[in-house]
Amino acid sequence: MTDKLKKLPPAMLTLDNKTYELPTLIGVEGEKAIDISKLRNQSGYVTLDEGYGNTASCESAITYIDGEKGILRYRGYPIEELAEHSRFVEVAYLLLNGELPNSQQLLDFSTNLNESSIIHEDMHHFFNGFPRGSHPMGILATMVASLSTFYPLPDRLDSATEQQVVINLISQVRTIAAFSYKKSIGEPLVYPSYKLKFVRNFLNMMFASPVRDYELDEDIVRAIDMFLILHADHEQNCSTSSVRTSGSSMANVYAVASSGISALWGPRHGGANQHVIQMLEQIHADGGDGTEFINQAKDKNSTSRLMGFGHRVYKNFDPRAMVLKKQCDKLLNKAGVNDPLFDIARRLEELALKDDYFISRKLYPNVDFYSGLILRAAGIPTNMFTVLFAIGRMPGWLAHWREMLKGDQVIITRPRQLYVGEPLRHFQDIDQRP
Ligand code: ACO
Repeated sequence: MTDKLKKLPPAMLTLDNKTYELPTLIGVEGEKAIDISKLRNQSGYVTLDEGYGNTASCESAITYIDGEKGILRYRGYPIEELAEHSRFVEVAYLLLNGELPNSQQLLDFSTNLNESSIIHEDMHHFFNGFPRGSHPMGILATMVASLSTFYPLPDRLDSATEQQVVINLISQVRTIAAFSYKKSIGEPLVYPSYKLKFVRNFLNMMFASPVRDYELDEDIVRAIDMFLILHADHEQNCSTSSVRTSGSSMANVYAVASSGISALWGPRHGGANQHVIQMLEQIHADGGDGTEFINQAKDKNSTSRLMGFGHRVYKNFDPRAMVLKKQCDKLLNKAGVNDPLFDIARRLEELALKDDYFISRKLYPNVDFYSGLILRAAGIPTNMFTVLFAIGRMPGWLAHWREMLKGDQVIITRPRQLYVGEPLRHFQDIDQRP
């Protein structure tokens, strides 16, 4: 336990006429916790918390969220300030190292990212092996795991190797992402360039071709950079918890990062941005204003949800959505940009925010509601949206992986369960079975 956690008077728990003293703790922002780490040994009881909504799985100094107040901070800095004044590479440095870099540190970090962007040439053959139309998230998860075979790591990482692996992953995930897109459209791969910075390099790999230069639009570069900053970390969400869980077995870090990508893919997590656009396209195609979709999302007999609405943690507003909404307005108000889906999105938001169903359940637009519109305005194809989320989240995953390994002890993640299956029964020969 770090000395940042302060002790409070113990909680008393009475079970089966016996009273147990459970230590209670308070974090630096006043979050209180009951330490139940010895509960099972002492009492034989476990706790039941499906989805872990009431469970702090670790101590962490990386990101602070107050879902009720709509607060998100990386290493103490409000997300709004970082989105306005910082750039993604600087934020990645901050998440990984705990402090903002000075000019030299930023230059070194940025140069190292640039010079680590190329992937082993033999990996290019792998891209040919995926069937046409493969989802880029499937390709990304596979290719990131396969980095472990091209860049084998020793069982114990010294700090220089660890630093380089972190840099490789942040930089190469972007190259792999762009290559998977190029393959999917049957165009030749565009190599990364040492001359271009992080976001420019990515957009160039995505959209340039041997026969055509790509004109970088400053507003788009800025919007993508901001998107990456806003997605860079979000404490113990589903994909980060996957990273910590697989990392706790001391698995290879490339495989660990791949597990984060796989968890992110789902429509209830990072896949939602793609589903928001698909939902808006559907509404556009049907010619409605969204009322029908809203009614479906409210219907208990339907599995449909209003994509881009609701959040496990944010119950009043998602601060990332507020920042992106402004950026979205700016980008879509630019001369020449005319996206009917944006009008549908505005209308849908208006309808949902007035609707009792959404109000009573505290369902507000989340970051994905706007991010899809921004990515669409930047020309990013819909099936690449979650891939961009993965590029943004990579520094966060790695900061958590590193924090976990640097802790006092790495405890393998191994929750308990409440068994509800058959009680003991005995094997029957096949001819005696009913
Ligand atoms: N549309 C309609 N109803 C919803 C929605 C939604 N988007 N989200 C939640 N609800 C309803 C549920 O049906 C439930 O209703 P009930 O109490 O009558 O049964 C209630 O609100 C609570 O829902 P839970 O699923 O318990 O809320 P939880 O906090 O577990 O889920 C989640 C959060 C998964 C994000 C959910 O709101 C959702 O599925 N949203 C749509 C998908 C989405 O946008 N995901 C992106 C999340 S942000 C991110 O990953 C970056």
